[in-house]
Amino acid sequence: MRDIKRLCIILAAIAMAACGKPFSVEFTGDDSATIRMSKAQEQTLWIPVDNRAGEVQLTVVGSEEITVPLNVRMAVERVQYWMPLHLNAATQEITIKGCPQQSVAWEALKVGENPNAEQKYRQVAHYTPQIGWINDPNGMVYHNGEWHLFHQYNPMGSRWGNMSWGHAVSRDLVKWEYLPTALYPDQIGAIFSGSCVIDKNNTAGFGKDAMVAIYTSAGRKQTQSIAYSTDNGRTFTKYDKNPVLTSEQADFRDPKVSWHEPTQRWIMPLACGNAMEFYSSPNLRDWQFESRFGEVYGCHGGVWECPDLIEMPYKGGTKWVLFCSLTKNPDHGSSVQYFVGDFDGHTFTCDTPKEYTDFLGWGRDNYATVTWSNAPEGRTIALGWQNNWLYGGDEEFPTTDFRAYMSLPCELTLIEYNGRAKLVSRPVKEFSAYLQGIYTQNNIDVTEQYALPVELSGENALWIECVVENADAEAMGIKLSNDKGEQVVISFDNSKQAFKVDRTQAGESSFHEKFAGVVEAPMSAAKEQRLTIVVDRASVECFTDISATSDLVFPAQGYNHITLYTAGGKATVKEIKVSRLEK
Ligand code: FRU
Repeated sequence: MRDIKRLCIILAAIAMAACGKPFSVEFTGDDSATIRMSKAQEQTLWIPVDNRAGEVQLTVVGSEEITVPLNVRMAVERVQYWMPLHLNAATQEITIKGCPQQSVAWEALKVGENPNAEQKYRQVAHYTPQIGWINDPNGMVYHNGEWHLFHQYNPMGSRWGNMSWGHAVSRDLVKWEYLPTALYPDQIGAIFSGSCVIDKNNTAGFGKDAMVAIYTSAGRKQTQSIAYSTDNGRTFTKYDKNPVLTSEQADFRDPKVSWHEPTQRWIMPLACGNAMEFYSSPNLRDWQFESRFGEVYGCHGGVWECPDLIEMPYKGGTKWVLFCSLTKNPDHGSSVQYFVGDFDGHTFTCDTPKEYTDFLGWGRDNYATVTWSNAPEGRTIALGWQNNWLYGGDEEFPTTDFRAYMSLPCELTLIEYNGRAKLVSRPVKEFSAYLQGIYTQNNIDVTEQYALPVELSGENALWIECVVENADAEAMGIKLSNDKGEQVVISFDNSKQAFKVDRTQAGESSFHEKFAGVVEAPMSAAKEQRLTIVVDRASVECFTDISATSDLVFPAQGYNHITLYTAGGKATVKEIKVSRLEK
């Protein structure tokens, strides 16, 4: 019996080799197999994946980067897409555990060019991963003229898993260059969210101006680890005494480190269950507990995640702002709240009462927002994950080989509003270089409907800026629609004093029952309202005087009609400018 099994295995291996593929597959029983590349050279092996399949374990034998097995949803019944595995001359053997021999994946393994078809929901203005899953922006740091964006990344699929740090750089925050995965999971754990700093005074001893990444190692426990780069973030060396900070707490993650000049210490806010904790260090290696904030403040529901603590100019002085991502906002999943107060290097003191909170964004799709470290000219620039844990991580999603985006990078300022300090966000000014005006008009009186006379292909990102005045109508707004009758309705609702974005008929929404819905954001009492709308292939982002929204949409074809409308009265669009954003 054993001999027959051996013979089958050998015959299967020969069959694979004989069909002209540049690799052989040897099945070794128990749903295990070894893939051997025929030539020891740099090449890409494309692994067939199905997001509905269970996970199998893939080991790259002899790899110095991928040192622990990765989990892959290898296709059993259907191939949905392929994920690339980059091999160098030293890594020519891959073992797979858990994928039955009759799976369609074995026939569909490929070497060479990307076999995936181009997808329609790749954004134009928004950072979109080349392939694979992304969540939180991580390690955002400006260095030597480059804006670095690391992010939570699954290099082996478009659903969450194998948490690594993907990497891209930009010179203007608009155009991005993809770089190889910066940090892969290791023996201590997966690489969860964290930050990067430039160690100008060489406090850690890794070199002057070393880029130091501080991240959560998510293994049996969550602990904090560090890695450093002395080549502009192109390669990182993990510190050999990791982890540098441990705890018995189950949720202990997402370090966002910055230098605190008055105390000459690094400060690390960490998300710890229902609260944020602050740690300090002279050298990024030895950390000491300072204080804890939050249990009784603001909004709770699920744990807090992804803190950021920043000092911002306010009324001739400064204020400290603490960002806090909220896993489960009771109403709509992921969202980001913030608190304004003071920080003395040890303790955060909140200015607002315990029950008060404010949100950075009011749309459904802007999470884990944090700011760039070391940004020039004192700029405060934030970026968030454009997705929501409520529906964004499930089996079904309207994209296949990549999943989700980053929100637009936004400049933050603190203004005084209703006697309190309030954060206002605006897309960074660098976008203006990519805008081509296609329509401008002043003083349009609107009663019911006014279709803008613009020819739109629905292909590009649109940038709509307007000033509206509504003394009379119950509501006024803008509808974006396509020839299939799908639409997004954006409105100022005077009767409810709310700004609204309605995506109930925006396009595909069947992948999750909670996706279709109407977002409400605060609206100022001003008679005149300014509004910027950024329409991309899979999202609509709005910026009013006091609030911002970011919402995914999946129309069958791009919106190519813009209609001004009112309900119950007349309103005036004092100015409107429509531009196309092309990169
Ligand atoms: C937030 C988060 C973080 C964690 C990461 C894991 O979206 O849950 O708290 O570090 O994602 O991918």
